Amino acid sequence: MAHPVTPTVVTEDTITDVAAERWGTAHDPRTAELLTALVRHLHAFARETRLSEAEWMAAIRWLTEVGQISDEKREEFILTSDVLGLSMLVVQQNHRFAEGATPATVLGPFHIEGSPELGYGADMSEGLPGTPLYVHGTVRALDGAPIPGAVLDVWQADSDGAYESQLDVDEARLRGKYTTREDGAYCVRTIAPLGYAIPMDGPVGRLIRQTEISHFRPAHVHFLLNVPGYEPLITHLFREGAEYLDSDVVFGVKRELVVTFAEREPGPTPDGGHSDVPWCEAAYDFVLQPA
Ligand code: BEZ
Ligand code: FE
Repeated sequence: MAHPVTPTVVTEDTITDVAAERWGTAHDPRTAELLTALVRHLHAFARETRLSEAEWMAAIRWLTEVGQISDEKREEFILTSDVLGLSMLVVQQNHRFAEGATPATVLGPFHIEGSPELGYGADMSEGLPGTPLYVHGTVRALDGAPIPGAVLDVWQADSDGAYESQLDVDEARLRGKYTTREDGAYCVRTIAPLGYAIPMDGPVGRLIRQTEISHFRPAHVHFLLNVPGYEPLITHLFREGAEYLDSDVVFGVKRELVVTFAEREPGPTPDGGHSDVPWCEAAYDFVLQPA
């Protein structure tokens, strides 16, 4: 005679434990830990806010749109994480560098792999309008020793605030890889960046417009340094005095990354050349944390 099976009765009080236990069966222990915690925090959110069915459905529709607008060039999920402060929290707790090392900040959605290799002082902004900007200095270890052969992967927005991946262009635009010389020195020639708005034509923008949040980022240039023997560094340099330094929509500003863009008269430039027009100079030494 078959024994009657007693079904597990899930109630409002027990559902969190039951779901967490179920997801805790993930084969990989770390996946089990992440999924159980996710279930517990999601349930706590729904309980704390007494989430209604209409609100739950609005959130599902919003997430669907985030997925639908995303492709290999449009990263609306990363943008969501950025504007919620999650990206910067994850960056900070994973890159607790020694004092004196250059701090990390968000990668953002606009980095493109495979930028062209450019020489010392080569112009990555060729033909584009803007004030010439030379960013130069050295790449060093914490003890001050220069690091030769370090590659700086550099990218930035144009004077309309647009990155290459937002435009329909065939050639590398405002990005390049610069290698340090024997003395650890690098020199980037570009144009002075301006502050710009994050993409506002999607679900993230629609949400931000319902708040008092500024949707701008302060003027900056992006740098990625992946040097053998050192912690990878993803960071920006921000222009001192720029608008929005106090309200960066993605929480990416750190005091140590704000540098002076000194305004210079026409004359000799740091690469040994000459500028016929007024230009800007930003001097910065990147200091890398050992791996
Ligand atoms: C950026 O600086 O490229 C960026 C970072 C996060 C969100 C949007 C843009
Ligand atoms: Fe940027």
